[in-house]
Amino acid sequence: MEFFAALKARHSIRVYIDTPVEAEKLEQILEAVNQAPSAGNLQAFEVYLVTRADQRKALAAAALGQDFLAQAPVVLIFCTHEARSEKKYGKRGVELYCLQDATIACTYAMLAASALGLSTVWVGAFNEEAVSCSVNLPEALRPVAMLPIGYAAEEPRTRPRRSMTEIFHWI
Ligand SMILES: Cc1cc2nc3c(=O)[nH]c(=O)nc-3n(C[C@H](O)[C@H](O)[C@H](O)COP(=O)(O)O)c2cc1C
Repeated sequence: MEFFAALKARHSIRVYIDTPVEAEKLEQILEAVNQAPSAGNLQAFEVYLVTRADQRKALAAAALGQDFLAQAPVVLIFCTHEARSEKKYGKRGVELYCLQDATIACTYAMLAASALGLSTVWVGAFNEEAVSCSVNLPEALRPVAMLPIGYAAEEPRTRPRRSMTEIFHWI
């Protein structure tokens, strides 16, 4: 799909059909993630791919009962790796850059999925400890975003946006 069409086609989806994501499409999404920019090119994040039904169910519980996490065939967990960024950037690496690295990576995954005709929703509301426990994340990692990926079972809805003049400040 053409880039701007993929941007337009993307809407958060919270109901998924029971169809797996093709391995080739998943690979393309992961390759897109690995193209994302990062501070100092350190890529201070790790991504966990969760396909096991019992683990997806545990993630849904850790995300305050957002059951679509159990429904979607794949869930990506984006984690910051603070130490990777800290080595070069100290406090700013820990507090800002690794978070930006991980969330840009998640954005790339989201847009790549959209370009491939797949649906997602960014999930930020979760108990970090419970997510870590659900999939046994190493202690050095902090989960900061989850992204269920699958085929939509609901009509996409366009949500309103703030006006351009309110957001952009030409100075
Ligand atoms: C940082 C962040 C956290 C979010 N957390 C959640 C979440 O926990 N659950 C959820 O259903 N949607 C979540 N969303 C999705 C937003 O609700 C959604 O993007 C917004 O309403 C705009 O709708 P659209 O994505 O369809 O354009 C999150 C989005 C972002 C960027």
